[in-house]
Amino acid sequence: MSDKILPPLDRDQLIMQAAALANHLARAGVQWMPRPNLDTVQTLKSRFEAASATSSVDNAASSVAQNARPPVVDSGGTPSGGAAAAPSPPPPTQPPPRRPALSPMLVGEAGKPYPGVSLPVAQRESELAALASEVAACQRCPQLVRCRTQTVFGEGNAAARVVFFGEGPGADEDRSGRPFVGKAGQLLTKMIQACKFSREEVYILNTVKCRPPGNRNPEPEEIANCRPYFEKQIELIRPEYIVCLGAVSGQALLDSKLSVGRLRGQFHPYFDSKVIVTYHPAYLLRNPAAKKAAWEDLQMMLRDAGLI
Ligand code: URA
Repeated sequence: MSDKILPPLDRDQLIMQAAALANHLARAGVQWMPRPNLDTVQTLKSRFEAASATSSVDNAASSVAQNARPPVVDSGGTPSGGAAAAPSPPPPTQPPPRRPALSPMLVGEAGKPYPGVSLPVAQRESELAALASEVAACQRCPQLVRCRTQTVFGEGNAAARVVFFGEGPGADEDRSGRPFVGKAGQLLTKMIQACKFSREEVYILNTVKCRPPGNRNPEPEEIANCRPYFEKQIELIRPEYIVCLGAVSGQALLDSKLSVGRLRGQFHPYFDSKVIVTYHPAYLLRNPAAKKAAWEDLQMMLRDAGLI
């Protein structure tokens, strides 16, 4: 075991870390922990600052006292008060180097918090199951209802740190009732595993829950009809990261008309989740040269999450 002692955290670092810990626990559905609120954090910070301003005056006084040099004693043992004989004053003490700041989004600066409270995992699971039953009976899009074998709700960990958000079921998904199980799904599974996650650790869902005929893109009205479903799924899970696969999910979630090329390479806020937009695995199968960019996008997330 290493006996290296880290320098103590300063006030700001301590507050940031406490807020990040509280945020993490709240996301994971721990309810006894108060949800960090940016206003409260700022109020506490100002109080700390006011208190430490007083104590730093005291500290300054005591450090002056500590730095007061004892009388210089000459070789004969007699104190000498002569200015010329005094050694030069010690250099002012430097503050210890600051640790790098934590990601500012961890204290909710980017997006507003998800509405309501973060539910314990078992309750998220039962609410997701109830929503899945509602989706299975949905009749909102007459053409999709006629063409579907079954709805494809989504699957995975109700307390996932990362959610993968696709476009809509294809033929394989329509047959099996599970998201991303065809060829594109196999590539997505490899992408998830390259991030050192398993499919069971993350959550996978689509923008629309029914297969558009002939694998066409979902119509805006179909996306609008499915919006309450995918929004509720994400709100229940409230992940740290949402990976939008392709333009359909990225544009729907971020209410944007920009292409993947314009949306990728940065984090976008969605409530207090961080969203990245990258290429859809089906696009990557047709354009393998884009895999490098998709991997860079995932690495940006992994770096931000402290996983690489
Ligand atoms: N493509 C998607 O967008 N979602 C799936 O579930 C399968 C393929």
